[in-house]
Amino acid sequence: MANINFTYLPGDGIGTEVGEAAINVLNATVNKFGHTLDIERHLIGGAAIDAGMKPLPDESLASAKKTGAILLGAVGGPKWDHLKGSDRPELGALLPLRKELNLYANIRPAAPHPALIDRAPLKREFLEGVDFVVMRELTGGIYFGKKGKDNPNSNNPSAYDECRYSESEIRRISIKAFDLARLRKKKVTSVDKSNVLETSRLWRAVVEKVAKDYEDVDLEHLLVDAMTMHMLTRGKDFDVILTENMFGDILTDEASVLCGSMGVIPSASLSDGTMGMYEPIHGSAPDIAGQGKANPLAMILSAAWMLRLSFKLENEAAAIEAAVDAALYDGHTTGDLGGSMTTSEVGQWIADHVGGDVS
Ligand code: IPM
Ligand code: MG
Repeated sequence: MANINFTYLPGDGIGTEVGEAAINVLNATVNKFGHTLDIERHLIGGAAIDAGMKPLPDESLASAKKTGAILLGAVGGPKWDHLKGSDRPELGALLPLRKELNLYANIRPAAPHPALIDRAPLKREFLEGVDFVVMRELTGGIYFGKKGKDNPNSNNPSAYDECRYSESEIRRISIKAFDLARLRKKKVTSVDKSNVLETSRLWRAVVEKVAKDYEDVDLEHLLVDAMTMHMLTRGKDFDVILTENMFGDILTDEASVLCGSMGVIPSASLSDGTMGMYEPIHGSAPDIAGQGKANPLAMILSAAWMLRLSFKLENEAAAIEAAVDAALYDGHTTGDLGGSMTTSEVGQWIADHVGGDVS
């Protein structure tokens, strides 16, 4: 029996709704398997700002560091768009959380579910058989480089964002990618812009070095501009796509198009050991917040990943995934996937079917 102690940061917009659905599913799962849940719920993002706190309150960060497992909904929304720099939910909460917890390895999957293939804008032949993950570097590069403005008061002000990578930063994310490829189809595609950027040339050289310890894993390099095409036209050729922070941000949004809906894709942001943060790849969707329309599946799958990766509860994670699978096949879904259920009804359906016969 395990005590599952984690930090729950529902955040803003639909984050709270999909979060409650996921907590419902987690409760059902621990009851089924004889574990206990110890949830530390805290504010983050706009919700924290509205409560008179910083976007990442000290107590939220302290809890996250202590539990080492974080389930996050979403942060941000138009209400806080007028704020600047690190007063903003994204820059002031999400980025420091990633940095402070050293969550350098972000994993986002792209494997179109058979029940959703017709929802994607691409022809079936480009989707069937696609099953890759993007391993995105998450705590370095242009996101965290020096930024600033020159001559802000002149008639031609300029601004800059520095992109810097060290060999050790590239090595550790490469090792994560090769280790994961070993458990999958044994192929790493490293994406860079080495025909132009110095950081990309270092990236490529370090990836080559790491690859020497993984002779059983194939390695290919692609330039990021070409990769945007290859992902759509020959997605099934990829297994683990390894790339830096900014390219990974862009490529993972593109990859979600292959899956028919952003509402079903979980993610993990990992450090060394079992430290991890789990969140849907979608945002706070303020336009549909509070209406029970949000699809909770990405959040529920993120909770399953938390059980698997931070708590090593593989059977429990697989039970949740099987129930989600059944919900997709049988159409127990929200309107975005053609169903007619509310967010909490989908959560309840999955909760009722975790660990049951869903074949
Ligand atoms: C993501 C998001 C974030 C990022 C934003 C909200 C800062 O787009 O997680 O992909 O750019 O990393
Ligand atoms: Mg993004």
